[in-house]
Amino acid sequence: MPDDLSPTVAVSIRPMEAEDAATVAALSGELGYPASPDQVATRLEQVRRSAREQPAVVLVAEDRLTGQVVGWAHVCVPVDLVKANTADIWGLVVASTHRGRGTGRALMAAAEAWAASHGCREVRLRSGSHRIEAHAFYERLGYRVTKTQLTFSRSLDED
Ligand SMILES: CC(C)(COP(=O)(O)OP(=O)(O)OC[C@H]1O[C@@H](n2cnc3c(N)ncnc32)[C@H](O)[C@@H]1OP(=O)(O)O)[C@@H](O)C(=O)NCCC(=O)NCCS
Repeated sequence: MPDDLSPTVAVSIRPMEAEDAATVAALSGELGYPASPDQVATRLEQVRRSAREQPAVVLVAEDRLTGQVVGWAHVCVPVDLVKANTADIWGLVVASTHRGRGTGRALMAAAEAWAASHGCREVRLRSGSHRIEAHAFYERLGYRVTKTQLTFSRSLDED
């Protein structure tokens, strides 16, 4: 993959490195999924190892002026029994201090380019019903709602 997938905006997009774990963890908290830097570093390693079977990458957006990581996106081509050639965006966040400057668009463009280079013909994502602003963002980028779902879960700790 080229190091820089977005020459036209004030961020560079590149694959995440272990050194980015602390910033990516902090941004994950902004997304509503708090994680420690160690947890994020461990999961990045797992993503990389499993990518041989299930292609995936975590992309980060780096501010060209400061070198600071200001957003990330996780894109994956899941090994799915019934659906092929479709990439999933499993996470996307831009620092609250850097929103509205094209960073989210740049991350999504890079994720789409990565997906296309892995044989995908569609990119799909799920977004909680409360994320009204993110929905407007996705629609602006040409994404359309194709299905609404309920998420069910049950804690196994009670057993
Ligand atoms: C959603 C998010 C990633 C967007 O990132 P961003 O860097 O602010 O978005 P951009 O500046 O690249 O915006 C791209 C386009 O979407 C539009 N857009 C962005 N947010 C919008 C909003 N709330 N309402 C309407 N349009 C919006 C922009 O105007 C822009 O359009 P343009 O390029 O035609 O001018 C960011 O707001 C975020 O991290 N939100 C919190 C986490 C989150 O909800 N993540 C998604 C989980 S599913």
